[in-house]
Amino acid sequence: PRIAVLASGRGSNLAALIAARDAGTLPVEFALVASDKADAGALRLAEAAGIPTLALSPKAYPDRRAYDLDLLDRVAASGAELLVLAGFMRVIDAEALRPWVGRVINIHPSLLPKYRGLHTHRRALEAGDAEHGVSVHFVTAELDGGPVIAQARLTIEAGDDEQRLAERLLPLEHRLLPAVLGLLASGRLQWRDDGAHYAGQPL
Ligand code: GRF
Repeated sequence: PRIAVLASGRGSNLAALIAARDAGTLPVEFALVASDKADAGALRLAEAAGIPTLALSPKAYPDRRAYDLDLLDRVAASGAELLVLAGFMRVIDAEALRPWVGRVINIHPSLLPKYRGLHTHRRALEAGDAEHGVSVHFVTAELDGGPVIAQARLTIEAGDDEQRLAERLLPLEHRLLPAVLGLLASGRLQWRDDGAHYAGQPL
């Protein structure tokens, strides 16, 4: 299937998806990589990989909904059938998201439902958690609230601060996101009208 990726940052998760596709382990085509930041590293990675890119500035829009509707229109126009949020730092408007529910996933650096939102590593450290991790979930209108598909976890170590924890989590992200996208791309993971299912069993 054709996929689009939304990213706001350096794009290491995008790079992992491209590497999995190049290795032949992820049966997807990249239709578009779009960003709300013209200087996002993810756009440079996409250009280098010959993937069409779009930098759409929110400043040019009267409000969030207008921006999100146009962004997702462009995603649809690219022929993308699945949408991956890989470090996309905006919450997508419910109206704009509606046609995509079930076809959009996000990677979030926490063991959801813990620590929805931002500063997840700091919050896990401050809570004195023994474990931390990353989650890939279906995106719904509720921030980091859709059904969790898969998680990877690690033990928080004595020397961990926010940055080291983020660094130790990245390799887990880079394995988890391609794996989950592969399930979605191959149809083993699907969103039916009665919710998300894996291999025919409800999540
Ligand atoms: C990752 O930590 C991801 O969990 C979060 O934002 C970061 C994206 O990093 N959503 P990158 O742009 O993929 O390197």
